Amino acid sequence: MENELLRIEDLHASVEGKSILRGLNLSVPRGEVHAIMGPNGSGKSTLANVLMGHPSYEVTRGRILFKGEDVTALPPDERARRGLFLAFQYPVEVPGVSTMSFLRAALGAVRGEDQPVREFRRRLEGELKDLGMELAFARRNLNEGFSGGEKKRCEVLQLRMLRPELAILDETDSGLDIDGIRLVSQAVAATRRPEASFLVITHYLRILTHLVPDRVHVLFAGQVIRSGGAELARELEVSGYEALRSEHRPAATAQAGTP
Ligand SMILES: Nc1ncnc2c1ncn2[C@@H]1O[C@H](COP(=O)(O)OP(=O)(O)O)[C@@H](O)[C@H]1O
Ligand SMILES: [Mg+2]
Repeated sequence: MENELLRIEDLHASVEGKSILRGLNLSVPRGEVHAIMGPNGSGKSTLANVLMGHPSYEVTRGRILFKGEDVTALPPDERARRGLFLAFQYPVEVPGVSTMSFLRAALGAVRGEDQPVREFRRRLEGELKDLGMELAFARRNLNEGFSGGEKKRCEVLQLRMLRPELAILDETDSGLDIDGIRLVSQAVAATRRPEASFLVITHYLRILTHLVPDRVHVLFAGQVIRSGGAELARELEVSGYEALRSEHRPAATAQAGTP
């Protein structure tokens, strides 16, 4: 597909020798929002980490194509430079590094931008304001002592500053209150542009009201077992994953048994 930004083919991945992703296929065209839903432990965060090239996860089969290029073996920094970004489910605390200097370094490393300090500061203040935060927040050490909601806002701040072509959001809505979800999802939605796409991992519909998905995929036991339009998310909210679980247990078990 010419308009394809991300293509995942028969992806198998394991962590500490345990197979988690078991033949995952996914295609995300440019400009689209795709939601990934699925029960706890189905491999959603694993998929996000494997897409970013996290060293703890081993790809044992299949490949990841980004803008037509096979990035399966590329280190994380190379992927970031090509336009991939992950907002972590559990952002790590980085003592001794202010959020501000981290962002400035990231802009330099990922985008090759070396803005004059005043210009950078002005841009940062604008982005912070849109997220309901003040400059004092960016002076604090990255994620150190941040509340759950502040950590998620900080991930979105990075996304807003870096403007990636593919933004993966791993449960960015969890830990935020209702107003926080609205603010954050609107701040993410405002970065939509025709050439960029979003992979939104979530359990809840609320974030999807602002970031309306073009496609919804259900991940179960390391595979995409169902894809549909935005209505699939609403359907899941009513019926839960349990119906799919019973539907799919035999296949998933057989799959797990194969070497
Ligand atoms: N770093 C890790 N070390 C050990 N097990 C892991 C690691 N990451 C994920 N797993 C295991 O992989 C499975 C899928 O986890 P995960 O991808 O976090 O699921 P989800 O995000 O869908 O809840 C779980 O059984 C989890 O315990
Ligand atoms: Mg997860």
